[in-house]
Amino acid sequence: NDLKLDLDDLKRRITPRTRLLMVSNPHNPSGRVFTREELEGIGQIAKDNNLFVFSDELYEDMIFEGRHVSLASLNANLFERTLSAFGFSKAFGIPGFRIAYIVCHGKHMQELKKRLHGMIVHADTLAQAAAKAALTNGTPWLKRLMVHLREMRDYAIQRLSAIPGVWCPVPQATPFLFPNLASFGMTSQEMTQHLEENAKVIVQNGAEFGPPGEGHIRINFATAYPVLREA
Ligand SMILES: Cc1ncc(COP(=O)(O)O)c(C=O)c1O
Repeated sequence: NDLKLDLDDLKRRITPRTRLLMVSNPHNPSGRVFTREELEGIGQIAKDNNLFVFSDELYEDMIFEGRHVSLASLNANLFERTLSAFGFSKAFGIPGFRIAYIVCHGKHMQELKKRLHGMIVHADTLAQAAAKAALTNGTPWLKRLMVHLREMRDYAIQRLSAIPGVWCPVPQATPFLFPNLASFGMTSQEMTQHLEENAKVIVQNGAEFGPPGEGHIRINFATAYPVLREA
C-alpha cells in the first residue's frame, strides 16, 4: 500500500517450485531505494529457500534520497547466489547503445556465456567507447542531470498533489512517479487510455507491473520543464 517492501508477504509467496527471486533496486516503478535491513531480509529469504537471485540495479545512479546498497555486496553467501545487472541506459541516457554488464561469482560465468551467446549479439565499439566515457567523465554531467530531475520530480508531485483524489508517494530514485488514481473510478488501463486519447499524454498502466499496481499509473518525469508543465 505505502509501496514498502513486505518481507512477510514475500515469504508467503515462496512455493516449493520457486527457484529465482527477481529484485529491482532502486525499484521500478515505485522509486524505492531498499534499505540495508530490507535487503538483508531478502538475502535471508533467498538463503533459507536456497533461491538464485537476479538483482536488477540499473537505476543505481539515479538517486535523490537514500543510499544504494548492492544486494550481492551484503555477504559471501548472497554474492554466490546473485546475478547483479548494471547498465548505462538509464542514468546516462544511452539505451540505444545496448550496453550493460552483469556481476556474478565466477562459477556462473561459463553457463551464463553459453546462454547469452545466442541472445546478445555484441557490445559494439562505439557503445564501449560511450560506456567508458560515462564511467570516466560522466559524473559532472550526471550531477547536473540529477539537479534537473529533482526539480522535475518536485514540480510534478506538487501539481499532482494539488488534484483532489490523487495520492502520490515521493520516489527516492528513478525518473518515475507512481500515483494512485483509484478514486477516479477507472481501472489503470482505462485511465491510461483516457490520458492518451484526451490529453495526448502517454503514461504506463500500473497494472502491467502486477496486480498491486492496479489503481496506479507510472509517469516518467525525465523531460524538459515546458513539456512537463503542459502535460
Ligand atoms: C529496472 C529496469 N531494468 C532493465 C530495463 C531494461 O533496460 P534497457 O532498455 O536498457 O534494456 C529497464 C527498462 O526500462 C528497467 O526499468
